[in-house]
Amino acid sequence: MIHYKIRGGIPLCGSVTVGGSKNAALPILFATVVTNGVSVIRNLPDIGDVAVALRLIGNLGARIERSGSTVTVDTRQLEFSSPDGTLTSAIRASSYLIGACLARFGRAELAGIGGCSFADRPIDMHLYAASCLGASVDGATVTADGLRGSRIDFRQPSVGATVNALIMASVADGETVITSYAREPHVAALADYLVSAGASIRFTDTAIYVRGRALSGGEVTVIGDMIEAGSYLSAAVATGGCLTVRGVCTDDLTSFLSFLTDLGVYVSISDSYVTVTAPHSLGRAHVTAAPYPGFPSDLQPIAAPLLALGGGGSIIDSVWRSRFGYLSALSAFGVRYRLTESGAVIYPSTLIPSHTAATDLRGGMACIITALAASGESTVGGAEHILRGYEDPVSTLSSLGASISCEQR
Ligand code: EPU
Repeated sequence: MIHYKIRGGIPLCGSVTVGGSKNAALPILFATVVTNGVSVIRNLPDIGDVAVALRLIGNLGARIERSGSTVTVDTRQLEFSSPDGTLTSAIRASSYLIGACLARFGRAELAGIGGCSFADRPIDMHLYAASCLGASVDGATVTADGLRGSRIDFRQPSVGATVNALIMASVADGETVITSYAREPHVAALADYLVSAGASIRFTDTAIYVRGRALSGGEVTVIGDMIEAGSYLSAAVATGGCLTVRGVCTDDLTSFLSFLTDLGVYVSISDSYVTVTAPHSLGRAHVTAAPYPGFPSDLQPIAAPLLALGGGGSIIDSVWRSRFGYLSALSAFGVRYRLTESGAVIYPSTLIPSHTAATDLRGGMACIITALAASGESTVGGAEHILRGYEDPVSTLSSLGASISCEQR
């Protein structure tokens, strides 16, 4: 077990360039399975989920070479094999094997699907997309005798189901129209990769139009991680510091930055970077997490310490209604809250150092931010959850002046 030892109360100041987005990199990696050629993927983050994804596609016969943050994936000699359940159970994105394997081999096997367990996370819409394109599900096996383009009318936006639909439709026979699709920047990033591999994809306000084609290798630079950006911006604000973040599209952070402005944070935005400066005291604000372009659900746990440090506020998560388990870990630091029917109310709180453990990725980062803000020595266990989505947070935070180290127990 690895844990972080943190001496809090030091303002974080400086500049950070974020890495590639986890939630863009993962669909791109699994989408290589439907191509036949060599793909070049740049700015791939060195994080736990990516390592698992590379092993899963490696097990299908992909030849992978890594040089720094650039990876080449050669998918010319793939062969179906049953997925390793230990690996699939480690990440949510293993659900992309359903679309990828169906499209490439005409067959997919449903092994355990992992990821953060903050809510019930069904895959019915993934399977609905597959069935629209002609697949049938029999127990844990999904088969298709050639995928055929069709309409996929999702009942609500789902990132994962939209990703699977795009992966399959890109190589299906004929045209597919996908409505009520997820508009997150990582969906567009996947489409950019597929187009570079030869796919025909057109987005309108109401639908994605995909004409299936045989795909060769593609080339893409993974977009910067907006959740990593929001996390470090929050850490700087929580500690009374000042931070410039580069490497992310600042438009993708609009709803998060307007939350910071509501709290009284000074925010300066340009196309290529954003700078935040903490005010003397933080105000009160309300968060409603919703599908893009709404406030990202993945940043609502990150927002909670700021509400506790300031005048309090409320959080509603319309994507994952029960994503509030992390608050019990934050309460160890003195964060006062009350769960309500629609979310949580956070009260102004006096933070104290504590010893707690992360139970999921973003909740874990919320613990780190709270520990950085609480004067004194804290520990945060469960580092493996945090390392699934953040590349070397100790080096990044240390470069901003934080007193943080990683220890093995
Ligand atoms: N949903 C269904 N049926 C489905 C799929 C989804 O009912 O078949 C519902 C879910 O229960 C949820 C909503 O649709 O209420 C949206 O879920 P979505 O499918 O969009 O989420 P996801 O694809 O499982 C991705 C990210 C999550 C992020 C959500 C929302 C990846 C690998 N994961 O999950 O990221 O919270 O979108 O933006 O892209 C994280 O990075 O920490 C993380 C959890």
